[in-house]
Amino acid sequence: MKSNSHKTPGLLLMAIWSFIILEMCTVFSKGEAAHTVKRFTGLYTGPYFDPTTTTNITTQLGTHAYLPCRVKQLGNKSVSWIRKRDAHILTVDRYTFIADDRFQAFLVDSTDTWTLQVKYVQARDAGEYECQVSTEPKMSHFITLNVVVPKIEILGESDKYVKAGSKAILKCLITRSLEEPAYIFWYHDGERVLAFDRTKIDIRMERVDSDTTMGTLVIYQSRPEDSGNYTCSPSNLDSASVLLHVLNGEHPAAMQRGKNSASPLPGWPHLSMGLGLTACMPPRFAVSVALSLAVLAHLFIT
Ligand SMILES: *[C@@H]1O[C@H](CO)[C@@H](O)[C@H](O)[C@H]1NC(C)=O
Ligand SMILES: *[C@@H]1O[C@H](CO)[C@@H](O)[C@H](O)[C@H]1NC(C)=O
Ligand SMILES: *[C@@H]1O[C@H](CO)[C@@H](O)[C@H](O)[C@H]1NC(C)=O
Repeated sequence: MKSNSHKTPGLLLMAIWSFIILEMCTVFSKGEAAHTVKRFTGLYTGPYFDPTTTTNITTQLGTHAYLPCRVKQLGNKSVSWIRKRDAHILTVDRYTFIADDRFQAFLVDSTDTWTLQVKYVQARDAGEYECQVSTEPKMSHFITLNVVVPKIEILGESDKYVKAGSKAILKCLITRSLEEPAYIFWYHDGERVLAFDRTKIDIRMERVDSDTTMGTLVIYQSRPEDSGNYTCSPSNLDSASVLLHVLNGEHPAAMQRGKNSASPLPGWPHLSMGLGLTACMPPRFAVSVALSLAVLAHLFIT
């Protein structure tokens, strides 16, 4: 106890604390003594921050963040949380001082930790927070809150083409997500896709990395009526969509078109048949020939 102390003020403080300890020991001597003694061990005579307390918290957008402030030997001092950005006092002990009920502080006695809870974290919550103890002078511990925004995408082009009868695979990649989604639902034109028969449709979800999840939808023998808008919708995030086109014909040229094609293509056989019919009618003959030629040229060039 007679450590490298700082002259008189330190000694005075120590004397005061010794007195308090003595008093408390007397008061609690019947059973709580052990507890009291445990609370006032160490080099410090007043409150001090547990040096192992974290200074950097990373949380996912929309989840709850918990900022711990571990203060030993707090005594009857107050703990306040202050937002550095605008110096707003968020909480003092258990009381919230901001008109935003997402902020709340609570004490976990067993660990001497005053934790600031920030519910439904928003991007603008990112930044520094100060845990302040009402000693004289005040003591502060700073914690930086990082907010990560998960990213979701369906791999490949936003328009996907497959031949009828072949396998369609849609892959939904979620990155920078600290919390794994509980599930991923797929919707086809707004209607939930269910994998009742796994020989026809398979739906899978896999955690491929500590912050990455892959959702997969496989349609083994796609039919034209499987065409449409497919949406990948994780339990805890926004969704992503892709347009699937199941082509009836045998024209690979049509399937190789990227997302820049003007419109989803009807089956090529139908189109040629239509052109053939119009060709029988003389007034339109020239137009039809021109059209057919244009289509043919297009097919061969692309
Ligand atoms: C805090 O954590 C984030 C995410 O884990 C990291 O990117 C950043 O570098 C860390 N900052 C400090 C000061 O350690
Ligand atoms: C609590 O703090 C006040 C000053 O804020 C002090 O006068 C009082 O003695 C303290 N009580 C105890 C039990 O330490
Ligand atoms: C597909 O469906 C989703 C969800 O209903 C919608 O947000 C999106 O705009 C649709 N995409 C297209 C290309 O229709």
